[in-house]
Amino acid sequence: MAMQWVYISIATLLACYIFLNKFVRNFNGWYYHLKLRNKEYPLPPGDMGWPLIGNLLAFIKDFSSGQPDLFITNLIHKYGRNGIYKTHLFGNPSIIICEPEMCRRVLLDDVNFKLGYPKSIKELAKCRPMIDVSNSEHRHFRRLITAPIVGHKALEVYLERLEDIVINSLEELSSMKHPIELLKEMKKVSFKSIVHVFMGSSNENIIKHIGSSFTDIYNGMFSIPLNAPGFTFHKALKSRKKIAKIVQPIVNERRLMIKNGEHVGEKKDLMDILLEIKDENGRKLEDEDISDLLIGLLFAGHESTATGLMWSIIYLTQHPHIMKKAKAEQEEILRKRPASQKRLSLNEVKQMVYLSHVINEVLRCANIAFSTFREATSDININGYLIPKGWRVLIWARAIHMDSLYYPNAEEFNPSRWDDFSAKAGTFLPFGGGSRLCPGGDLAKLETSVFLHYFLLNYRLTSMNY
Ligand code: HEM
Repeated sequence: MAMQWVYISIATLLACYIFLNKFVRNFNGWYYHLKLRNKEYPLPPGDMGWPLIGNLLAFIKDFSSGQPDLFITNLIHKYGRNGIYKTHLFGNPSIIICEPEMCRRVLLDDVNFKLGYPKSIKELAKCRPMIDVSNSEHRHFRRLITAPIVGHKALEVYLERLEDIVINSLEELSSMKHPIELLKEMKKVSFKSIVHVFMGSSNENIIKHIGSSFTDIYNGMFSIPLNAPGFTFHKALKSRKKIAKIVQPIVNERRLMIKNGEHVGEKKDLMDILLEIKDENGRKLEDEDISDLLIGLLFAGHESTATGLMWSIIYLTQHPHIMKKAKAEQEEILRKRPASQKRLSLNEVKQMVYLSHVINEVLRCANIAFSTFREATSDININGYLIPKGWRVLIWARAIHMDSLYYPNAEEFNPSRWDDFSAKAGTFLPFGGGSRLCPGGDLAKLETSVFLHYFLLNYRLTSMNY
């Protein structure tokens, strides 16, 4: 009798396994196949994963295992080197694109593709004038808002203050008696820098009160968008509200200062620009738009840069011969400096050729933004495959950066690969591309160069746990 129960249990488990693996597991794939069966072109190869969650668990598993490229490598092994795959991620049916020409095609096509970030990111990064407007209005706002950080002339103005921030921060870090958390400290450096760039003098309050709240927002970006106590997304939304509450009075105060003529003579910063800006119909921005833009730019302007700084230090520390060569270049710059010159000049930054290759290599290997997200606004045929209207398109730059076809021995951190080399179109996308190309790329590189100049010359990092 006992044996009979054992057999029944085994048979039941087997039946459940077959049901789950063969039926439930494939349900998503069948569903979309049936739904789109009358379309002219087929969906690309790939795997739609489990109902509702799609391939999210596999994605999380691969990204947290320290082998983030497994997710794409598995697709390539299973379905061939197609450069385009169907999947289901972050709550949406999606197409992954990881071939340079196709990536460029999507990034450059503002008619058939719009921004398509997951719900969690959309709500946390809500910023109507940059996101929910027509393409021409986006261009108009983008040009005005990013004027303070585009071009060398604009950036030169910040060099001295960036230098002070870096020198003081490194001094402070080196005098600490306990180990530091590198990313957290790099966020403080890049946050101080971006607040200075965008908000000039009225910055102390912001630096003191909201820097760490941005980390909650960052943590919520790829979380489950559930606004209930205990969930990461809930905490992130609360932090965003807290930041808005602090930013609004600062905007009001500046508005009052301008009205009373107390702000004349000072250089225009982002807040002045935002208070003056008009849309294409000549209307000024609402208070909420101003505060959203300010929060968005402060966030975009420091989180990624901090991650880049952290990886630069880690890669240099892990590769002593590269560190030595980079340090020698910085020493040479000091040797050539006239005795009367006391500070870094933009000209010297431009002479840091090897360091710029180090930074490029960090951007390639660290893949700070693993993918950019778009949504198809109509059915599109790419290379004979269908991207259905409403589906998300993930431009998976990480896969291109780590592909030995474009970067021989791609796993190796080797800044010298950039000697006399310029990446072919679509193969180097750390800052995205097309009309949404990151406007802060040059600023991020300048900040990183200034930081590494002083770090290489005067400091060393000993890793405790990496
Ligand atoms: C290493 C540092 C940085 C990286 C890796 C990075 C990466 C990116 C990427 C990939 C995009 C394109 C997003 C898309 O196409 O959907 C982007 C957009 C953007 N970035 Fe950066 N970024 C960095 C630093 C900065 C800095 C310093 C700022 C300064 C404000 C900034 C401001 C922006 C803005 C405003 C956008 C949106 C542009 C638009 O929609 O027109 N970023 N960034």
